[in-house]
Amino acid sequence: MAKPLALADRWALVTGASSGIGAEFARQLAARGMHLILCARRIQPMLDLASELHLKHGTQTEVIECDLSRSESLTALEAEIANRGIEISLLVNNAGYGIVGTVDEADPARIQNMLALNIAALTDLTYRFLPSMKSRGLGAIINLSSLAAFQPVAFMGPYAASKAYVLHFSEALHVELRYTGVRVLAVCPGVTRTDFFRVAGVEGWLKKHASLEVDEVVRAALKAVDQHRQYIVPGWRDYLLTWLVRFVTRKRAVMESQRYFRPRKSK
Ligand SMILES: NC(=O)c1ccc[n+]([C@@H]2O[C@H](COP(=O)([O-])OP(=O)(O)OC[C@H]3O[C@@H](n4cnc5c(N)ncnc54)[C@H](OP(=O)(O)O)[C@@H]3O)[C@@H](O)[C@H]2O)c1
Repeated sequence: MAKPLALADRWALVTGASSGIGAEFARQLAARGMHLILCARRIQPMLDLASELHLKHGTQTEVIECDLSRSESLTALEAEIANRGIEISLLVNNAGYGIVGTVDEADPARIQNMLALNIAALTDLTYRFLPSMKSRGLGAIINLSSLAAFQPVAFMGPYAASKAYVLHFSEALHVELRYTGVRVLAVCPGVTRTDFFRVAGVEGWLKKHASLEVDEVVRAALKAVDQHRQYIVPGWRDYLLTWLVRFVTRKRAVMESQRYFRPRKSK
């Protein structure tokens, strides 16, 4: 049985902390006594969150404005953290977004930007902060994948494939780092009540699908990292879905996804 990760008084970097799942990670990690670096493009919600956390928990919170889809910002972020004399013990690679639409509606530049954030930035930050965790023999990386990682999804092909990358990448690292003291976890939530669907242009999906709340997703993730799990699918219904796709053909799985994920405007 793995020991819970000792997090109190250590520093975590949470990307995409200005809303949704990232902001909830910040809340639950501060409640465990962690100091935090919050990073995203919108600064005001992070400043508000930093004040809230300081009042509630007395922990330290630093806010760094950063567009993680730009590779030069990743170098600047690492340098800024080093300048502030902070050593990261937990990296939460949470920033990400999705695009839903038909092939005819596709905007190649936006898809590139999404891949730069969901894949390139996550990978880059992992390799920037991993060596110091490994040399100290202590640390964890939590990568936000998705339920969409378990099969191809029609009308959100690049997004689902980006999350399959995150799942595979994290699972490989989990095994490679198993006896180093560094834990790697992929979190694979299904529909979760956040701004994600508004950003993806399908706000109505939150009414159409059963959804999780951010606090249950983050609680499940932190429990899974304590248990040194490889991946976690919060909620038993979504977990069952990941098994269901193993019993049908790949063709059937992706054909079924068409029924559920066809954007309303393309009908
Ligand atoms: N909600 C779901 O149903 C669901 C399900 C599975 C997986 N996920 C994953 O969970 C993660 C968090 O999403 P969420 O549901 O919490 O949605 P959200 O509320 O829209 O949060 C997305 C976060 O990513 C940040 N972000 C977006 N573009 C960025 C950029 N270029 N640079 C830096 N930060 C950026 C946003 O901040 P700024 O706009 O301020 O930059 C925001 O803080 C994502 O990786 C998403 O794919 C969500």
